[in-house]
Amino acid sequence: MRGRLTADIKEEIRQRVDLVELASAHVSLKKAGRHYKGLCPFHQEKTPSFHIDRERGLWHCFGCGEGGDIFDFVMRISSLSFTEAAETLARRAGVRLERSPEEVQQATERDRLYRALEAAVGFFREQLLHPEWGRVAREYLQRRGVDVNAAERFRLGYATPNWDDLLTALGTKGFPAALLSGGGLVHPRSTGDGYYDMFRHRLIFPILDLQDRPVAFGGRALDETSPKYLNSRETAVFVKGRTLYALNWAREAIRQHDEVVVVEGNMDAVTCHQFGITNAVASLGTALTPEQVLALKRFASRAVLVYDADAAGQAAMERAMTLFEEADLPVRVVVLPSGDPDAFLRTEGPQRFQHLLAQAVPIFEYQVDMAASRHDPKTIEGRVRIVDDLIPAMGAVANPVRQAEYIRSLAQRFDLAEDAVRQRLRGRTRGKSHFPGPPQAVPTRDRARDQAERLLVHLMVHEPALRRVVGEALSPDDFQDARYRDLARALYDGPDDAVEGIRQRIDDDGQRLLMQLVFEDPPVVEKEKEKVVKGAIDFIMYREPAAQHRLALARQIQQAQTAGDLEQVRRLQMEYLKLIGLTPAEVPPSRESGQGQPSRKGGEDDGQEEGGA
Ligand code: UTP
Ligand code: MN
Repeated sequence: MRGRLTADIKEEIRQRVDLVELASAHVSLKKAGRHYKGLCPFHQEKTPSFHIDRERGLWHCFGCGEGGDIFDFVMRISSLSFTEAAETLARRAGVRLERSPEEVQQATERDRLYRALEAAVGFFREQLLHPEWGRVAREYLQRRGVDVNAAERFRLGYATPNWDDLLTALGTKGFPAALLSGGGLVHPRSTGDGYYDMFRHRLIFPILDLQDRPVAFGGRALDETSPKYLNSRETAVFVKGRTLYALNWAREAIRQHDEVVVVEGNMDAVTCHQFGITNAVASLGTALTPEQVLALKRFASRAVLVYDADAAGQAAMERAMTLFEEADLPVRVVVLPSGDPDAFLRTEGPQRFQHLLAQAVPIFEYQVDMAASRHDPKTIEGRVRIVDDLIPAMGAVANPVRQAEYIRSLAQRFDLAEDAVRQRLRGRTRGKSHFPGPPQAVPTRDRARDQAERLLVHLMVHEPALRRVVGEALSPDDFQDARYRDLARALYDGPDDAVEGIRQRIDDDGQRLLMQLVFEDPPVVEKEKEKVVKGAIDFIMYREPAAQHRLALARQIQQAQTAGDLEQVRRLQMEYLKLIGLTPAEVPPSRESGQGQPSRKGGEDDGQEEGGA
């Protein structure tokens, strides 16, 4: 492919496209000497190591080692093939490419999808503005106070109640049903003959990507119909977990304020913009993903969360906080007295909303307040509990300076010894980060165990019904292999979810494993399935319990030692010794010598300590 694009054309495109301008859509760049610098869009980092040499049209990241020219940049950032990237850049530069018919077709496949989606936006918009068909939706907008400017800016539309209005209208414009289906606009009928419109009698919120291209839709029911919001399924151009509603409209304001306001609902975002809070984006209802947080980090160095006041909103907010800490994107939170940002803005007005934003509480302070409201800070026991509640939050903090500061402020506020808090934190192993870190060495594991775990997740991937069955017997932590553990957790969390749903809940490694299992048939025949599942569960639960128990104890002892809790060390050691058949009396008392205390290695190796018995 590369050969087809002549050196001349390539050079011409290079001459015409400014890499700084191109990259600015994805990275916040600052001039630094001869170069431009910013946070690398290709890996997770806190200090800018992504450099651009504008004159040469080259980029390089000293953090992750990625680099190249404009073509490489577009390929990486938009996941395009070289041909597709060249297409995009050629269009941008106004340069014509000569290609074979097959190539034209391939390269235009995504393009056709974008055009179909764009046509759909136009169609929905026409329906909204139609004197007759659109009246009910216009009245709805009026009732909710969405003004005409906002409706236009957000390109809101209306899907009529009929089953094939969009299908027909776009069909006559030359968009075949199969293409529309690929874009999530229509569904094949279950009878197999033809398609029907996905969105009917709904207010339409087009979801645009960062190049302002429509990629999906959210459809709000105009009455009590369930679901209240219907969203496009994932397609070749729409990955939910990577998209934020309104980011395309908010991008500039986010950069100017160096801060992003994150709300839950589409309507919340629209209302925020209408009232001048133009740096607001919505999380598309689903729980915020690490990728979404990284997307925000490219534009702002601070975030404010304004979630619904109800329990679900508060819970979602607490979950989101961890992600921001892990991404080292400082975040503050606003707790609304009631309702959601949309309702607050309409009843209380933008000034009071701005006031709340200005008074937003840094996330850790908020978490401390929450913990302090759950336990009595006046008692020792209460203070211990407060600290314990905050351990996971502190553990998630990626930035060591901030973590130290949290520890200091916590100790100060509750009159605790800083060292004690620090030890407590160290005693707890840090949970697995949502962000991919440096690759870890894979310990050698028992093959049989490995197979049992793999088999179970494999079956659960293919058979949602099994997720509850296995979930009742095994907790995610019963899976030794971190990859199976994470996937099991995601499967338990979405017992009815299709693959797309599961994918959103796991990291890249997990997604690779998931896709591998999806494309592989489970090695079990139907009538043996039940027996095999039970066998695998039993194997994990009972065949290895002794080894497991020893290992767990060994870890606890080590943790207690790190935390300096000698009482606990002593107690666990007794338990351990009993387990391996030694009575405490037979043990030399010396702790320093390390005797009578299992090494971690010993705990992992089946049978080594047995020799001592
Ligand atoms: P909310 O239920 O808070 O809706 O869901 P809202 O934004 O306040 O909507 P209005 O004001 O009643 O119109 C928040 C977001 O969750 C997603 C949508 O993106 C919605 O904006 N959601 C909600 C769905 O995807 N499906 C649903 O059925 C409900
Ligand atoms: Mn609402």
